[in-house]
Amino acid sequence: MQTKLKMNWSLSCVAVVALCTLLNIQPAKADEGMWLTMFLQRLNMTDMKKMGLKLSAEELYSINKSSLKDAIGGLTPAGNFQNHFCTSEVISQKGLLLTNHHCAYDAIQSHSTVKNNILRDGFWAKSTSEELPCKDINVSFLVRMEDVTARVLAAVKDAKDEGERAKLAAAEIAKITAEATKGTHYNAYVKDFYKGNDYYLFVVESFKDVRLVGNPAEAIGKFGGDTDNWMWPRHTGDFSFFRVYMGKDGKPAEYSPDNVPYVPKHSLPISLKGVKPNDFTMVMGYPGRTDRYRAAAGIQLDMEETNPARIKLRTKRLALMKEGMDKSDAVRIKYASKYASLSNYWKYFIGQNQGLKRLKTLDYKRNLEAQFQAWADKGNNAAYKTVLADLNKGYADLKEVNLFNTYRGECIFGAEIVQQAQQLYMVRQMLAKPEGAAMKGQVLGGIKESLTDYFKDYNAGIDRKTLAAMLAYYYKDVPKAQHPDIFAKISNEFDNDFNAYAEYVFDNSFLASKGSFLEFLDAYSDETLTKDPAYMLAESFARKTDEIRPKIVAANAAIDKGMRTYLAGLKEMNPKTTAYPDANSTLRLTYGKVIAYKGKDAVNYDYKTNIEGLMEKEDPANEEFIVPTKLSEVYKNKDFGMYAENGTVPVAFITDNDITGGNSGSPVINGNGELVGTAFDGNWEAMTGDLVFDKALKRCINVDIRYTLFIVEKVGGATNLIQEMKIVR
Ligand code: ARG
Repeated sequence: MQTKLKMNWSLSCVAVVALCTLLNIQPAKADEGMWLTMFLQRLNMTDMKKMGLKLSAEELYSINKSSLKDAIGGLTPAGNFQNHFCTSEVISQKGLLLTNHHCAYDAIQSHSTVKNNILRDGFWAKSTSEELPCKDINVSFLVRMEDVTARVLAAVKDAKDEGERAKLAAAEIAKITAEATKGTHYNAYVKDFYKGNDYYLFVVESFKDVRLVGNPAEAIGKFGGDTDNWMWPRHTGDFSFFRVYMGKDGKPAEYSPDNVPYVPKHSLPISLKGVKPNDFTMVMGYPGRTDRYRAAAGIQLDMEETNPARIKLRTKRLALMKEGMDKSDAVRIKYASKYASLSNYWKYFIGQNQGLKRLKTLDYKRNLEAQFQAWADKGNNAAYKTVLADLNKGYADLKEVNLFNTYRGECIFGAEIVQQAQQLYMVRQMLAKPEGAAMKGQVLGGIKESLTDYFKDYNAGIDRKTLAAMLAYYYKDVPKAQHPDIFAKISNEFDNDFNAYAEYVFDNSFLASKGSFLEFLDAYSDETLTKDPAYMLAESFARKTDEIRPKIVAANAAIDKGMRTYLAGLKEMNPKTTAYPDANSTLRLTYGKVIAYKGKDAVNYDYKTNIEGLMEKEDPANEEFIVPTKLSEVYKNKDFGMYAENGTVPVAFITDNDITGGNSGSPVINGNGELVGTAFDGNWEAMTGDLVFDKALKRCINVDIRYTLFIVEKVGGATNLIQEMKIVR
């Protein structure tokens, strides 16, 4: 699952663990939990061993020796080493990386043209010289982590409010990361856990030269499309390969033809033995974000207002993209990646809202809160007694500006021209200050450079229709007091005809086409800018945002502070309910087993799918279910090679590992430390999983490594890749 954070107990996590050991509290149990790799020995090893793990804690995470963690590469946007959009794993001593097809999707699309459409047809580099540089992707490996809670909490202890607390924390964190990386080529970041109760430092080595090595045709890599997305049973070959390169000195380097394949500290051997029910499995990777401790009021706001809005707005935006994509192959390529990422979370929000109702999540949360209140009332911590009321007040305040906030992101910025214009609004603010003005050339140069990529994947026709549709929704749905004054102009001059207004904007704005945009940047003039209709629209929204922002910030600050107190209280009430911190894009390990599930009354799902099931889904008339000719041929000839099991090829399997967006591409590893699959999705029955873990329903969907290698060899003919892997039969 692809992406899109925090602990204040009075005791640091280390201290809590020590306390647990002292009091002989039961160590954690499997399935639920995204565990920090540094605490596996104390929290999880006993349980993992019982379930079938043969490795030691030191073989999973070690600072001094090579360990499993060294094979886990977090995929980040270029220049960023801490916000992982996906996970990958090293599977050869030459830096070969395996991840999901949907994680490589953007890179594959950017290398596709109408003439050489590798997104549609697939791509297999037959030698390293054919690999394709992906300048937008970096991959980072964790060197070590450390508890820095005491330092950060000491720095913030006298903060007057949330704003000051954030500033003091940031200053201390800057010192910590500088010390941690001094004299090295490493990068470091500190993240907060349990909503700011705990802080951990992560030191990483981030590689900048990443190249695309191979991907199956989209009909395999995205088989089942949006229909099957977030669902089980699944037949998607959701995998692709990259390779990490390093400088000749063995250190990370910018792309250069002289770079050499990365020699990892550890690469995962691959097992062709497959899995059966109850087999131990663990997944190591970078889960992006969960909100398992979220208050009922927060869930209610999402359920009743935010999610329905997101769904409605995205439905329309997707329809407009699709309309454009269906008309032209060139537009189809341009919008493929934008469409896929928008639709992924569109369907997620639909599933989450259905699940919240079906599973009565609100009742569960309210019940927990009632228990907490009763417990707090008996104690003598004043903050605990009022914290739920504080949280409810925070959410009530947020609700007043929630539609504005949601529509700003999902609706107004849904039109890309407004995002571009907003960027120029910020530049103009910056240029008004002397220190900003000094950077004029650099900033405008940066924008100029970004326009090549931006316009490569842009279609003004789609964007114009989107702008018209989004303004109409905003006008109707957001309270009138939160309308920026541009709506008065649209009413006076266009009689609220949003199509006519959007047409006027696109006909007259320099932002609508690359040539005029570049011309503007070359001769930047405040006068031209402030008269531009797209700019005027963005500026009007920006002014309204400036007016409303303090309310949003205050409500969120109250919620953040409330959650920090609530979590500290929950921990005191019952340490088990807060055994692991929410996902925050840091390296975690989740362990569990291969296991089927009961979807609903009289519906029992098996734990694996195979290639026969894929052929049954084939529908040449439906683009989501096309089976490429080559795959049909191999299937007819039963040419399954060493990937067969009982006369078929297993395609996917499910486990109860606890994953979320950002874990996409993570390795599924058996008890011997061998790769058996690649995690890529969650299931429809448990779409509330980021809010509450439902043991009976939540499953992790994985591509069977044998299907991956079967496609690589038999369909892609890339035996060169198979040869560099270490395969255990
Ligand atoms: N649900 C998957 C995830 O979040 C992404 C699948 C991408 N496929 C798609 N049809 N959009 O990781």
